Amino acid sequence: MAAGEVGLQAIRYSRGRLQLLDQRKLPLETIYIDVYDSSGGWHAIQDMVVRGAPAIAIAAALSLAVEAVNLETKPTSLDEALHFLHTRLDHLVTSRPTAVNLLDAATKLKNKTSDAALRTSNAAEILVVYVDAAEAMLAADIASNKAIGDYGADLISGQSKRDGKLSVLTHCNTGSLATAAYGTALGVIRSLNLQGKLNTVYCTETRPFNQGSRLTAYELVYEKIPAVLIADSAAAALQSSGKIDAVVVGADRIASNGDTANKIGTYNLALAAFHHGIPFYVAAPLTSIDTALSSGDSIVIEERSSKELTHSHAGHGPQVAASGISVWNPAFDITPAKLITAIITDKGIITKPEGSLVFDILGFLNAH
Ligand code: MRU
Repeated sequence: MAAGEVGLQAIRYSRGRLQLLDQRKLPLETIYIDVYDSSGGWHAIQDMVVRGAPAIAIAAALSLAVEAVNLETKPTSLDEALHFLHTRLDHLVTSRPTAVNLLDAATKLKNKTSDAALRTSNAAEILVVYVDAAEAMLAADIASNKAIGDYGADLISGQSKRDGKLSVLTHCNTGSLATAAYGTALGVIRSLNLQGKLNTVYCTETRPFNQGSRLTAYELVYEKIPAVLIADSAAAALQSSGKIDAVVVGADRIASNGDTANKIGTYNLALAAFHHGIPFYVAAPLTSIDTALSSGDSIVIEERSSKELTHSHAGHGPQVAASGISVWNPAFDITPAKLITAIITDKGIITKPEGSLVFDILGFLNAH
C-alpha cells in the first residue's frame, strides 16, 4: 500500500449499492455481502459482519441510504418520509448498545432531515437530503481518522527510548476494518510507521472474538507494518519487559470525564500500563464522546453469547469448554479516566487539567 492510501475496505459503497466485508470470515476468506436495506444493515451489525464503532455507524446509515434510493414506492408526504427514515434509524440504533457513534449518527441524520422538512414540501427531497448526509459521513470518517493519526503520531513520537523509534501495544481492531478507512488507534500506528518512527506494534489476540489475531494482524501483515501478535494474557509481562513505549487503543463510548468503554481487556492493559509508568492513549473521533454521561458508570455493556467462550472460532467451531459451565461474556469494559494519559481526537489532544485525575471534555469541546 502506498503512503497515504487507506488500506482494506470494510465498506464498499456507491449510490444505491452497499457491500460489507464479512469480517467473521477473515483472515481466511474475503467475501463481500450485499446489504439491500436497513433490516439487512441491522443484522450485519448484530451478527458482527461489520464491527468497530465508526464502521457500525456508517454501515447503518448507508444501509438506510440504499433502501431509500431503491424504494419502489416512495413516500408521498413529508410526514411519511420522516416516519420512514426516523423509525428505521431508531431500529438501527438497537443493533448493538455500547458504541455511541451509531446513536450520534442517527441523531444527526434525524435532525438534518427534520430541519430539511421545514424548508420543503417535497417528500422526495427529504430522502435526497438523507442520502447526501449519510454519504457525507463516510467521507468525514476518513478525514477524521487521518487527523487522529497525525495528532497521535506527533504526540507519541516524543516517547521513544530506542533510536527515535517506538514500540507500541494495541488491542482489538481499530483499523481500516473498524472504520470507513485508515483507522483510529491503528491509524496512529499507521501514521507513526509512515513517518519512519515505528519500531514494532504488538497486537493482542483479543479473546474471545479474536479481533486482534484475525483482523488487526491481517491488516498489519497486509500493510507490511512490523508487528508481533501476543496472547491477551501476555500483555502485562510484555509491559514489564521494558519493550513498550506506549499503549494505544480505540473507544466505543467516552464519558465527559474521560472514562472510556472499549473492547473487553482494555482495562487490564491500562492497569498494567499505569503500574509500569507507560503512557496509555485512547484514540477516537469526537463522535465517540457521549456528552450526556458525566462518567462511565451508566454505559451499557453488551453481553454476548456464551458460545463465544465455550466453542472455538468465536462460537462457530467445536466445543472447547466443559459442558454445563456458566459463562459471563461482556464485550466491553470501562477504563477509568485516571488510567488514561491523553485522548487523541480528530480535533486535537485532550489532556487533564493540572492536578485533575479526570478530563474536562466539555471544556475541550467548547473550545473547539
Ligand atoms: O466488538 P467490536 O469488534 O465492535 O469492538 C470494537 C472495539 O472495541 C474498538 O476498539 C472500538 O470500536 C474502536 S474501533 C475504531
